Amino acid sequence: VDHLLGIKYLNKKDIELIFETADHFKEVINRSIRKVPTLRDTTIANIFFENSTRTKLSFELAEKRLSADVVNFSASQSSVKKGETLIDTVNNILSMKVDMVVMRHPNPGAGIFLSKHVDASIINAGDGAHEHPTQALLDSYSIREKLGDVGGKNVVIVGDILHSRVALSNIFALKLQGANVKVCGPKTLIPKHIESLGVQVETNLKKALEWCDVANMLRVQNERMDISYFPSTREYTQQFGVNKALLNSLDKQIVIMHPGPINRGVEITSDVADSNQSIILEQVENGVAIRMAVIYLLAAKK
Ligand code: CP
Repeated sequence: VDHLLGIKYLNKKDIELIFETADHFKEVINRSIRKVPTLRDTTIANIFFENSTRTKLSFELAEKRLSADVVNFSASQSSVKKGETLIDTVNNILSMKVDMVVMRHPNPGAGIFLSKHVDASIINAGDGAHEHPTQALLDSYSIREKLGDVGGKNVVIVGDILHSRVALSNIFALKLQGANVKVCGPKTLIPKHIESLGVQVETNLKKALEWCDVANMLRVQNERMDISYFPSTREYTQQFGVNKALLNSLDKQIVIMHPGPINRGVEITSDVADSNQSIILEQVENGVAIRMAVIYLLAAKK
């Protein structure tokens, strides 16, 4: 059985195949064909142990547009609250003849662990501060759509790199495709030895923005934060927030991305998030085609 557990386990050709497949599905959706019969005999469980808006809805829409049967499981309303283990939970769901599991979980490596203990394809929809592979795929796909290619582009990932599965998956995906990657943020929110992944560290946001073609602004993850890591919100915004005046001071127009949810006025101001430099909603739109592609390709391998 094949899985999508992280970008770490993919190669460049895998990403190209996912993008070509997503191109096809995006074209189908844009022709107002909202549903294809491809996965009529497949049942998919979306099991979420952490909150989500974009990822959860986007997977569900992708599955429904492929005509799969879908069951949604939210841990907070389940027998997990009575102490049932992850493996027991998933094996009970699978015994109801479920073929594929999409899982978000607060523990890094939860998807990898599950893939070794259950007989179904697992798609990691975010595991703690580890990986969020479909987010990185839709991010690169959106850069490719906007700028023609990912290879050779300068991309800076700004903010809370330490707690970010989006940052790690993006670094793997961007490097595989030949982009130049920098990370920018407070020193306490940048992992030690991150240079070993082939990225450079820049602690001055203006310099990072002057260098880049694309800036991916991350949310400060207060829910994963030890307070000692973090300057005050006001200090953070002054040093690492983007606003229109800062973008206007550059001698070029860069592309602004954000995986969501946005803390408006902290890492990004509304006049930037809602501007024509921002591709934030295009990222969300592309998430459906990317997830259709991932599900379709995994189902085809079974
Ligand atoms: N980008 C992202 O993962 O958003 P959600 O947490 O709302 O799914």
